[in-house]
Amino acid sequence: MKKYNIAIVGATGMVGRKFLQVLEERQLPVDKYYLFASARSAGKVVPFMGKNYTVEELNETCFDGKNIHIALFSAGASVSKKYAPIAAAKGIVVIDNSSAWRMEPDVPLVVPEVNPQDIMKHKGIIANPNCSTIQAVVALKPLYDHYGIKRIVYSTYQAVSGAGLDGYMDLERGIRGENPQKFPYPIFGNVIPHIDVFLENGYTKEEMKMIEETKKILGDSSLKITATTVRVPVFHGHSESINVELKKSFELEELKNVLAKSPGLIVVDDTDNNRYPMAIDAEDKDDVFVGRIRRDESVENGVNLWVVADNIRKGAATNTVQIAEKLISLWEGR
Ligand code: A2P
Repeated sequence: MKKYNIAIVGATGMVGRKFLQVLEERQLPVDKYYLFASARSAGKVVPFMGKNYTVEELNETCFDGKNIHIALFSAGASVSKKYAPIAAAKGIVVIDNSSAWRMEPDVPLVVPEVNPQDIMKHKGIIANPNCSTIQAVVALKPLYDHYGIKRIVYSTYQAVSGAGLDGYMDLERGIRGENPQKFPYPIFGNVIPHIDVFLENGYTKEEMKMIEETKKILGDSSLKITATTVRVPVFHGHSESINVELKKSFELEELKNVLAKSPGLIVVDDTDNNRYPMAIDAEDKDDVFVGRIRRDESVENGVNLWVVADNIRKGAATNTVQIAEKLISLWEGR
């Protein structure tokens, strides 16, 4: 089998480091890896795959002469806006974890369990969805296929690691009794109904990302969706309450079976024994966990779900690496 060269942009960040861990675990057919970050980290030595890698500065010529096939980006939206087209113009397929390209019509927005068919529509850039959207659509896709979906109400409980290293450190600072530097208010002992910036319609950008990205990934602009996204004092793992109004009627047991058979999704739903998905159990796992599955008795064909995943793994690094794996297998004609 052919071997590929992969670049990691933002290799020193929260998600970048997880890219390295996931790549070590999954062993893609790779010849050479190249690690990039800002000038601040250039020259830093990072142990990876049993070797020492030196981080290089990301700049306009850093990809030249390296025969890179795929670049995994997680260095923020402004870095992606500038450098993803530079990499793509050199024939590299960029898989971008930022929000920079997600809603561009020419850029596939991919969760491999949900819409792998969109990968080959790329024109040099493939976008990795927002962390909270990824775990939601893994749980919603089987319901969408079996019953149709009319309306979705998202309420999220999101970990501080979703805001990068600075967010993570804000919770540590709070525990030590220090003031926050990343969030507008202390996160320790608090719940902040504000993720990303506020928009004119009163929603936050994070909420609109969930709404728009869900429609794009499921390929259905007619879906009715609303969202409230909230930061909670948890280090790892996003939790979500998802209220869904289905188009067709359902039997609860059958619906649970549909979820249980779906790829990447694990049903943890045994309330007799107090078993339900929790952030502490999802930490460092690649799957999405769903539980508290119950009928919403206030509407026709309504169901409530509680969905939990590791936001840095399935919500970011794992999903990006899975896209790379799928891309390689499509290149290999499999
Ligand atoms: P660096 O560590 O050199 O600042 P996080 O989301 O955890 O804050 O990580 C952000 C990642 O993006 C880090 O690897 C960071 O590198 C990288 N990064 C931030 N700004 C730039 C930039 N202008 N050019 C290249 N990499 C950047």
